[in-house]
Parts: sequence; C-alpha cells; structure tokens
Amino acid sequence: ASTPPRGTALAVASSVPVGQALAFTNPADGNPAWVVHPTGNRFVAFSAVCTHLGCPVQYEPSTVEFICPCHGGVYDARNGQVIQGPPPGPLAAIAVQVVNGEIRVY
Ligand code: FES
Repeated sequence: ASTPPRGTALAVASSVPVGQALAFTNPADGNPAWVVHPTGNRFVAFSAVCTHLGCPVQYEPSTVEFICPCHGGVYDARNGQVIQGPPPGPLAAIAVQVVNGEIRVY
C-alpha cells in the first residue's frame, strides 16, 4: 500500500504551460496565491497578497511579473522579489512540488 501524497493538489501540471500562472486559494491561510511555471520543470508559488498594503497582485505573462493594481508595485514572478514600487519586501513563497504530474502545495 502506498501512502497518499502530502499537501494539496492544485491542478495537473500540464494545464499550466511554461510562462503561465494559475491563481489558487492557499489552503494554509485562505489567501489568494499564484503558482507560476517559469521554465521547463520548475514551478514556484507565492502569496498574492502585496507586501505593501495587501492588495491582491495580478500575473503578467508577457514579463513574468506580478503587478499590484493599487500602487504600482511590481514583483519578479520567478522569485517573488520586488522590482519596483512601494512594496517593502518579497511576496511570501509557498512550497510547491510536482508529484505524479500534479502540482501540489504544502
Ligand atoms: Fe500593492 Fe500598495 S498594496 S503596491
């Protein structure tokens, strides 16, 4: 018997092509979040809650960035780091892994 995988399954990995992102609700805290597929085998996930004043950030696939609509904060969607604007720190990272072709968060 195999133990069921840990974490929460979000989607089939192949449903999020390279360069795209998927919005989800973080099961750990109920807040909006994004999982991003920046390159080949790599998936990363971040809280969507802007570290400035908490607006939900939007994903911009043309630049692989998160844009905050409230005050123009911009984050690198590959690593959550601030690129410009008022946010004082990076978006909170969420642990993510592909298991048996499914994106899972922890
Ligand atoms: Fe995001 Fe101000 S709340 S930049």
